Amino acid sequence: MDDDTVALTGIKPTGRPHLGNYLGMIEPCLELAQGHQTYCFIADYHALTTVRDAQHLANLIDEAAASLLAFGLNPHQTVFYRQSAVPEILELMWILSCTAAKGIFNRAHAYKAAVDQNRMAGRDTDADIQMGLFNYPLLMAADILAFGAKVVPVGPDQKQHVEIARDVAGSFHKAFGRLFQMPDALIADRTETVPGIDGRKMSKSYGNEIPVLASPEELRRRIMRIVTDSRKPGDPKNPDRCTLFNLYRRLAPSQDREVIRQRYLEGGLAYKEMKETLIGLLEDRFAEARDCFADHMAHPGELADILHQGAQKARTMARQTLDRVKSAVGITAT
Ligand code: TRP
Repeated sequence: MDDDTVALTGIKPTGRPHLGNYLGMIEPCLELAQGHQTYCFIADYHALTTVRDAQHLANLIDEAAASLLAFGLNPHQTVFYRQSAVPEILELMWILSCTAAKGIFNRAHAYKAAVDQNRMAGRDTDADIQMGLFNYPLLMAADILAFGAKVVPVGPDQKQHVEIARDVAGSFHKAFGRLFQMPDALIADRTETVPGIDGRKMSKSYGNEIPVLASPEELRRRIMRIVTDSRKPGDPKNPDRCTLFNLYRRLAPSQDREVIRQRYLEGGLAYKEMKETLIGLLEDRFAEARDCFADHMAHPGELADILHQGAQKARTMARQTLDRVKSAVGITAT
């Protein structure tokens, strides 16, 4: 990737990040920020498609912003902002909607799943489906195209949305000439599934997550509940079938990994000891981030300032794109 390539990603505020979010998305994005022009934003308008409680949403936004900063996002290096603070994105979205093909939105996974569900239940196909869900990929296209992003790091579930953004750019180009950078999804290798405490994919909807910024007591309680088989301490064990080892190997230095792997195979390693080791690793890795998170949450004014400064930079860029787009379509930029 060239140094002047723009990378951009949005994080939907969904509560405190868990280990799966951290390893799958947050860490790879922070690494990408080293040496590249990066934009990272809190997708608060996307969250509005589902959240129906103002106080709750406000809190989710703060938590998302505070956790990214706590994990090491440097707002001097990465343009860091709230989507809603950049109204140019919404203006662009309307203009894009005028050339975008509706058919591809009918086929977007989330909308299609909702329609299929209605159909199976014998209801009207669009029963209880909001325009926000339908337009979700279009807002995402505007998020991306407004900044000329070439690389869009996302989880595998968002790949289709980046493809839709390309399609949306293409339709605009056909009507008005080439103007946008074509974005590509970058699916981090590490989006390999992180298991939760019950061994299934770690997900808030399963309630099996390990909240990395939780108190040490809560962290301990969660780790102690990790499900293992009934092998005794002395028995040989299969590290590749063990959730504890699976989590351990993602956090431990590689030399330690081999030693522990051997001890699994030979026997003599108790699951209890592995749990303690894992707790220790998580503690070391995230103690500083946890304090930093608490600090940001305790100073909402400063948090708002950081996001505001980022939004100013983001607006300058988005404004340039929007001006070019408006003059391409014949609406004089003001
Ligand atoms: N929809 C993405 C998600 O749920 C978040 C998002 C919004 C996004 N806009 C984006 C990601 C633009 C990348 C680029 O994870």
